[in-house]
This record gives sequence, structure tokens and C-alpha cells, in this order.
Amino acid sequence: MLAPDQPAAVPLNLHEYEAAARDLLSPMLYDFVAGGSGDEVTLRACQAAFARWRLVPRVLRGLTGVSTATSVLGQPVASPVLIAPASLHKLVHVDGELATARAARAAGTIYTMSTAASMSIEEVASAAGPWWFQLYVFVDRGLTRDLVARAAAAGATALVVTVDTPVLGRREADERNRFALPPGMAMANLQAPEPVPGTVAAEGSRLTSYASVIEPALSWVDLDWLAALAPLPVVPKGILHAADAARAVDHGARAIIVSNHGGRQLDGAVAALDALPAIVEAVAGRGEVLLDGGVRRGIDVLMALALGARAVLIGRPIHWGLAVGGEAGVRHVLELVRTELARDLLLCGLASPAEVDRSLLVRAGIPIESDPASE
Ligand code: FNR
Repeated sequence: MLAPDQPAAVPLNLHEYEAAARDLLSPMLYDFVAGGSGDEVTLRACQAAFARWRLVPRVLRGLTGVSTATSVLGQPVASPVLIAPASLHKLVHVDGELATARAARAAGTIYTMSTAASMSIEEVASAAGPWWFQLYVFVDRGLTRDLVARAAAAGATALVVTVDTPVLGRREADERNRFALPPGMAMANLQAPEPVPGTVAAEGSRLTSYASVIEPALSWVDLDWLAALAPLPVVPKGILHAADAARAVDHGARAIIVSNHGGRQLDGAVAALDALPAIVEAVAGRGEVLLDGGVRRGIDVLMALALGARAVLIGRPIHWGLAVGGEAGVRHVLELVRTELARDLLLCGLASPAEVDRSLLVRAGIPIESDPASE
């Protein structure tokens, strides 16, 4: 916990948050959050991709201050670090998504609520600052349409459509642990709003496993349908191929999220950071490009921005912060990354995210052949 009488226990960085959460959670819950699919090649690749770059700082710039503020889809944010959609926050803390949403609001950033949240859109929305809704398109298009309408009515400002889940990735740790939702835990957005006890609707409200009802045959036609239906900008999440990124903006996407689902879907998939440059080139400024997967440090954020991302999202560290300290823990996780980013910007001779560009980076171990930095 973050109790002031235990200063030595306060994690200093996101890796320490993971270690602290691991001590607190059961192996089943820790593995559910930490794990990836298959041999976890992609899970490891997500973070390893950052280690292949080095920063080339500029000096003597006379900077008197720094700001991490930027904007995403026109929304001002205190830092280019947003909260990725992740299911079931109540698994790790009783306050669940409410705590996460409040923490994002306090930190001045965007909270993305998962379709598979453990609290409903309506329970969380009024406590949230700017927030986005992540949508899984269901075979039942009526249910899908209702979710979009509920999110829009409750004040979501973008619709993040996850496109990398025609089938769930096989997470073997969850199988081994026989992962199951604890009694009383459910995917609250998939519950009938007010089921009458004893009726068929009440039976339906017991739905806790949603994987079998996610549309396996999602296509561009569905993206068009959502772009026309939703009174919100549509942001496909889970794009790794440049041609898909270009096509997504052709189909009305206002931003895309370069992501391999944090290594939880296709094992062997390319690291998001490695996919980013070609995608930025293909999108060519026609939409904003965001990235998630493996972001743990301020320098990771800097590297993603230097390769053309507008902002990044973080997933697992939010669960770790929540497990360790509830709302305060998530606030602290966000603040740690923001202050690391502020310090790193200054150390690079940059006053804000807007000043970050490709000239900041070289490949690790490769000599700088010409001056990489422009004036
Ligand atoms: C996720 N992720 C996810 N993505 C999504 O679109 N809908 C979802 O419901 C979930 N649920 C979910 C649960 C848990 C426990 C995790 C860890 C992740 C993926 C998430 O949005 C994001 O892509 C990754 O978590 C990013 O990688 P990092 O930051 O965890 O390395």
C-alpha cells in the first residue's frame, strides 16, 4: 500500500509496481494480468523493441521548463500516456473501474473503458473525466448497437473498436490455473440493465463469458457500419500492418491504435513499436497514430513519439497500481510515467512532446554516421 508510514514500500517505477502487485495477488490473478499467449514471444518482444533504440539528446538549449501536455483527438491531456482498455478491474481491487476512472481524471488523462469491464458504463461514467469506450463487436448486432448508444449517452468521446480478436488468444497459464471469475464478478456491461428476478432476462444477465459471442468474421463492412452509427470518432485497436492502417483511415477511422493486445492474442506477432514507423508513413497525417504494448518508462513514451505516435496507452501497469493502492495507486503509476517523461524531455533538450521528432533516435549499437539531429 501507499501508506505514508511505509515510505520504503512505495514503488519507484512501474516494474516495482508489478513486483508489489505480484506479492499481493494470487498466482491465478497475477498470471491472468501479466500473461500472454503461446510462448509469450510477442509479450517479450513488446518491451524488447524499445531496447533497440537509443536517444541522441541535444544540450545547451537554455530550457527553463518543460510540459508533458498534448492533445489527442482534440482533447487536451496532461501527458501523452492514456489508459488502455482492460477487462475486470475489480479482480484486483474492490473499487474496480471507478478507481481507475477517477485516477485518470485526477491525472488529466483519458481512461478507456473495456466492454469487458467489471462495472457498468453508467456506474463509472459520472466519475470519469474524458473517457473512451472500447467495443468488442458482438455477433448480436443489437447488443453491439446498444453498447455504442449507452457509451455515447454516458459521455464517451471516442469508440475504440478492437479488431484483433476474431478468437481469443490461447493463454496457457489461464488454462493451467483454471482461471475463472470469482463468485459475484461479472462483465457488467453485458448484464441486462435491470433484470426482473426469475425471468428469462435475469438468466441472460448471468452472461460472464463473452468470448464465444465476439464476432469472429469482423470486416471493413462492420467498421463502416460503426463509423456511420456512432456519433463518436472510431478508433480501431489492434492494427499492425501498414495497409490495414491506411485502409482504416479510408474507412473513416480518426485514429488507430497500433497494438498486438499486449502479446495476448497472436503470439509471434510483430512488436507494436516495430510496426509503428511503416504505419505512420502509411497514415500520412490523415489520422492520429497511437501505440500500446510494453510501455513502462518515460523513455519508452519518448521513443514512440519520436517514431510518430501521438500518444501511448498502458495496460498492465494500471492493474498493478490498482492492486497495490486502488485509485491512489493508479494515480501514482500515471504520475511516475509523467514525471519520468518530463525529466527525459529536459534531458533531451526538449520542452514538450510537440518538439519530439525522429532525429531523437538512433538504432542501438549502430554508429551515428551523420548528424541525426536537425536544428
Ligand atoms: C487487456 N487488453 C484488452 N484490450 C481490449 O481491447 N479489450 C479488453 O477488454 C482488454 N482486456 C485486457 C485485460 C488485461 C488483464 C490486459 C493485461 C490487457 C489489452 C490492452 O488494451 C493493451 O493492448 C495491452 O495491455 C497493452 O500492453 P501493456 O501495456 O499491458 O504491455
